[in-house]
Amino acid sequence: MHHLNLGPDLSLPLAEASGQCVAILGIRGSGKSNTAGVIFEELLAARYPLSIVDIDGEYFGLKEKYEVLVVGAGENVDIELDVDAAPGVAELSLREGVPVILDVSDMLAEERELFVLEYLTRIWSLAGKLRKPYMIGIEECHEFIPQGMRTDLKEVIARIALRGRKRGLGAVIISQRSAKVEKDVLTQAGMLFLHRVVHEVDMRVYSELLPWPKAEVKEQVTSLGVGECIYLSGQSIRKVKIRPRHTFHGGFTPSFKPVETPKLRQVRGEILAAIHKFKEEKGASLSEEELQQRLEKLEAELALKQARIRELERRLRERQAPPTANPAAPEPPPEHPVPPTFDLPPEVLRKVERLLKRLRRLPIHERRLVAFLAAREPRSYTTAELAAWADCAEATLLAEPPTELVELGLLSCERLARGITYRAQLKAFVNRAFSGFLPELGPQGCHHLVGYLRGRLCQLSALEHDFSRIA
Ligand SMILES: Nc1ncnc2c1ncn2[C@@H]1O[C@H](COP(=O)(O)OP(=O)(O)OP(=O)(O)O)[C@@H](O)[C@H]1O
Ligand SMILES: [Mg+2]
Repeated sequence: MHHLNLGPDLSLPLAEASGQCVAILGIRGSGKSNTAGVIFEELLAARYPLSIVDIDGEYFGLKEKYEVLVVGAGENVDIELDVDAAPGVAELSLREGVPVILDVSDMLAEERELFVLEYLTRIWSLAGKLRKPYMIGIEECHEFIPQGMRTDLKEVIARIALRGRKRGLGAVIISQRSAKVEKDVLTQAGMLFLHRVVHEVDMRVYSELLPWPKAEVKEQVTSLGVGECIYLSGQSIRKVKIRPRHTFHGGFTPSFKPVETPKLRQVRGEILAAIHKFKEEKGASLSEEELQQRLEKLEAELALKQARIRELERRLRERQAPPTANPAAPEPPPEHPVPPTFDLPPEVLRKVERLLKRLRRLPIHERRLVAFLAAREPRSYTTAELAAWADCAEATLLAEPPTELVELGLLSCERLARGITYRAQLKAFVNRAFSGFLPELGPQGCHHLVGYLRGRLCQLSALEHDFSRIA
């Protein structure tokens, strides 16, 4: 029988993973994507068909060893596709057993959601007829199955995760925000890989999943190193070390260093030809009823967006009104229009874009915060001052501090007599994150890069983001 060799002390019969809901959790950098990548490598080696929803475009490296089709919108796609072609590709993948990576890294949130929804809906309905073993991997799944919110996409993913087995469907869901993933899906997962977490909310989720006293959960979980996790399946529960991926891990090299792209296998010509055919037929595969449903859905979405635009316009007008006396409000920001790119190397500009893409996924108050502080570097502000500006309760800032921004090095945090303060650290950030480019940039280029980055960050405020999503 085929085994999945996941680590020196973890080899699972393929049948055990087939049709399972597998959850991989842990903080940033704890090794989740590596673990998922190893599972996918082993499935591919066993010729087990699968699709991976790749939100950061980091799985294309599987092509180093395996024939995998990468479609969607991202830097490494074989064929760029939009939502119309998604059902056709899903059908091809399931019928012919073609492994597919859905690279949605360059799609806007709505487009991404619709693309994945159409894809998985077709997989679900067709799997009911074909009943073939098939696995679906979903990175950053809290974005698709958020706790306490109902969406069509969430429903189809939850269906696959909870009831897919009878149709041959399994799911590998990966998330760095355990507390934000739909609880039902997590508690029903038949196999768990629990990497390190540190925050209390995540620790609470782990305590619900592990049959240990809270203190032991904390002790065991905080002692985990990168690539180590608590493996839980049926009666089995133990600490394991996952092996490193054999193929290139797109998330491996910190995204700011130059990446050496590996040699990749190409997908068979006939498969590419079939996909091009879907692309040309564009939507022809949809029935009249399906088209009508989509139209109604889009009209409903449009109505919601128009209401949102009116609301944002109202808030904008309020903000442009003459300031009322407010002692906590900071002075208006200096003007920071986006400066020209000063012929910065394209790779540097691409890195800036990737960074911004990542930042746009942060909660609104964090985006406002970084825009605010970038405009006023090097001044530091207390959480009370920032809360007044970022239009959120100070308690929110204290409960949900901008950890990612601090970890990235864009902001620094200090505890002073006047309270917890934050300030922007763009120069230090550029020096570190773009270190590989500094010789090429020289002091002048580096200065330009800091200015350019500042201009772009200043645009990250909620309004800019919300309008860009609507556009
Ligand atoms: N089992 C392992 N053995 C050796 N190195 C590992 C292992 N797991 C992860 N790493 C390395 O640790 C780093 C972070 O791993 P990975 O990208 O998998 O983390 P992650 O939890 O997915 O992080 P993020 O939440 O940022 O996506 C990478 O450089 C990766 O190669
Ligand atoms: Mg990852």
